[in-house]
Amino acid sequence: MSKTEQTLSIIKPDAVERNLIDEIKKIFLSNNLEIKDSKKIHITKDEAAEFYKVHQSKPFYSDLCAYLSSGPILVMVLEGKNAVALNRELMGATDPKAAGENTIRKLYGISIDKNSVHGSDSLDNAKKEINFFFQN
Ligand code: CDP
Ligand code: MG
Repeated sequence: MSKTEQTLSIIKPDAVERNLIDEIKKIFLSNNLEIKDSKKIHITKDEAAEFYKVHQSKPFYSDLCAYLSSGPILVMVLEGKNAVALNRELMGATDPKAAGENTIRKLYGISIDKNSVHGSDSLDNAKKEINFFFQN
């Protein structure tokens, strides 16, 4: 049984900078995901460090935090049936070179670090990540 879920999507600086917001939104909307909330923001490196703290032991952590805070991003709450897994499917693999045909990262990703989008990886993390950016 599929259930309605919410997940967090981020359009990262490389994609915002290349004016890909509308193209990427179209992919979500044409795959039965609704955009329930969205805002364009420019976060600090400390905020990025807090958001990505699960990766703090990884060698790429510092670069990742610098990158996410390097320019404006679009954060969105996506809603739909199996939204968490569906968003991950539409995004494709972390490395654009390994991503499937017609996935967002295959179409628009530049490299493993500049891979255009973030998506929550579980329902639990989706709740935490939505709450991180959208406190009601
Ligand atoms: O974003 P995703 O969940 O697919 O991947 P992750 O393993 O949670 O890594 C988070 C982000 O770190 C990725 O989206 C990449 O931008 C970055 N990363 C990197 O720069 N170099 C790596 N070797 C792995 C991830
Ligand atoms: Mg991840």
